[in-house]
Amino acid sequence: MCGIIGYTGINEAVKKVTKGLEILEYRGYDSVGICACSNGKLEIAKAKGRVSELKRILSGEPRENVLCAIGHTRWATHGAPSYVNAHPHRVGRTCLVHNGIIENYKEIKSRLEGEGVNFVSDTDTEVGCGLINYYYEKTKDPYNAILSASAEMKGSYALAIMLEDEENTIYAIRQGSPLIIAKGKDGFYLASDLTALIPFTKEYYSLNEGELVRLSKNEAIIYQGGEPEWKITDMSFEASKKGGYDHFMLKEMYEQPKAIKGSLTSRIVNGLPDFSSDGLDKSFFEKIKEIHIVACGSAMHAGLVAACLIEKSALVPTSVYIASEYRYNPPITREGTLVIVVSQSGETADSLASLRHAKERGLTTLGIVNAVETTIAREADFRAYTYAGPEIAVATTKGYATQVSLLGLFAICLAYNKGEIDEKNAKALTECLFFEAPAVMENVLIRRAQLKEIAKQIYERDDIFYIGRGIDYAMSQEASLKLKEISYIHSQAYAAGELKHGTISLIEDGTPVIAIATQEALFDKMDSNIKEVRARGAKTILICHEKMQNTEGCADIVFKLPKSSYLGNIFSSLMTVQLIAYETALLRECDIDKPKNLAKSVTVE
Ligand code: AGP
Repeated sequence: MCGIIGYTGINEAVKKVTKGLEILEYRGYDSVGICACSNGKLEIAKAKGRVSELKRILSGEPRENVLCAIGHTRWATHGAPSYVNAHPHRVGRTCLVHNGIIENYKEIKSRLEGEGVNFVSDTDTEVGCGLINYYYEKTKDPYNAILSASAEMKGSYALAIMLEDEENTIYAIRQGSPLIIAKGKDGFYLASDLTALIPFTKEYYSLNEGELVRLSKNEAIIYQGGEPEWKITDMSFEASKKGGYDHFMLKEMYEQPKAIKGSLTSRIVNGLPDFSSDGLDKSFFEKIKEIHIVACGSAMHAGLVAACLIEKSALVPTSVYIASEYRYNPPITREGTLVIVVSQSGETADSLASLRHAKERGLTTLGIVNAVETTIAREADFRAYTYAGPEIAVATTKGYATQVSLLGLFAICLAYNKGEIDEKNAKALTECLFFEAPAVMENVLIRRAQLKEIAKQIYERDDIFYIGRGIDYAMSQEASLKLKEISYIHSQAYAAGELKHGTISLIEDGTPVIAIATQEALFDKMDSNIKEVRARGAKTILICHEKMQNTEGCADIVFKLPKSSYLGNIFSSLMTVQLIAYETALLRECDIDKPKNLAKSVTVE
């Protein structure tokens, strides 16, 4: 995924676009560039590396006469990170920046090369630019040129386009990748997401699929007709700043207790779960016979935890699918199947494709999304926002925690509406989710120093295993991903009972094995699994329920979670494994908020 931004108005275009790029950098950061309209000429500056590199190149010149610019920060898909492959790309009189993938770029490229168009980069984006320019040279009509090219390009794209013949004007079109325009007192903006626009204005409009817009100093015109339906966001600029924390990830971990309450408050009425404000009434829940949860990465891991909760309380068969697999290996469905698509960004291409696939099959779809007004939220039949606020760190924490809390409340609501639990039990579980989950997370945060000590024991290792059973195995998968994605240590999560069926051969002297054991009934089994790996030299770390007796000596290190219920244990173990990952990455001096090779939301398949 990449970040694009543009501005046209009364002043300081380069400064505004560069500032927006700094906020968008979490979307991709291997190369960066800007195109400015200066005295009627299109001028491009770009660099391999971060926005700071671009600022270094641009430093010094005031550029007051530049009133219009577009910018791009890249997460490479086609073509390695390099100066040549960095956006903006220019062909003839056309210059553009792009977020997405043009899947049929090779055939377009060979056709245009056959007509004498020369390309210098390895990117699909340059081909898209060449195609628009090709039609523009023929018609001199920007709308016609962009729409003709759009009709030919397959895949996903959000494009911001400047033409040398149209001073201080930006054209933009979205197909599959998000694009937002915004109206400020000083002109008009566009960006891949709202966080980049907050410093300038709160009045925005999310382009619909296929919409083409023309921005100039005084107006935003939608080609297909109609005025943009401007909305006002309540997102604060502070939300997109670190607020004194060393990293966005740390800030967002500390925000989790509050974020969990924020995700639940509007869905608890008289102590009972109530999703009617999301349009999910009693009849909606009564109709559900089976649930498919479809997502990617951590969102999929949240689904694994949710599936345990739903089947345990509501007795509704629930399966979890990796989104990139779901539509190519579609499961058998029956009347009453609900497809829940979980996505923090609401723009993950694989998850969006799965949503569309489910809708094509006539299945009811529910989006559990954090970023408001995003494509998954808008296209699902129903949506429930997690209200965690903007999440900037690439590694999700509060996004995941609020997904689990919201799906946990959904499970209680489903169980209650299906008569599997009575009102008293439903109220007790709801109270536990709302009060205990944030409290136990606070408790673990206070004990951060202990987890730093654990990190010191493991940060130099090459392989680290997480093991657990049932819901602890589900949590182990998120624990392992967190560790991998920010510390770059190879880690794997295993069902504890499965380790001895092959993988245990990987255990060497000192290999860290972190066991999550929050279920008392399974503790003896976990104890045996820990002994098995310990006997082969593993350094064992046990994260267990506070009530578990005789844990002393059963592992090299024992971290007892605060006293809490089955539901509370989910959140205390979550905070524990998040902090282990964070402290380990810190010791390894990794770039915690922007891990190498990653992007916050993968808007390409
Ligand atoms: C999690 O830390 C990762 N950033 C990644 O696995 C993420 O959860 C996944 O890409 C799904 O993103 P989404 O929730 O925005 O759809």
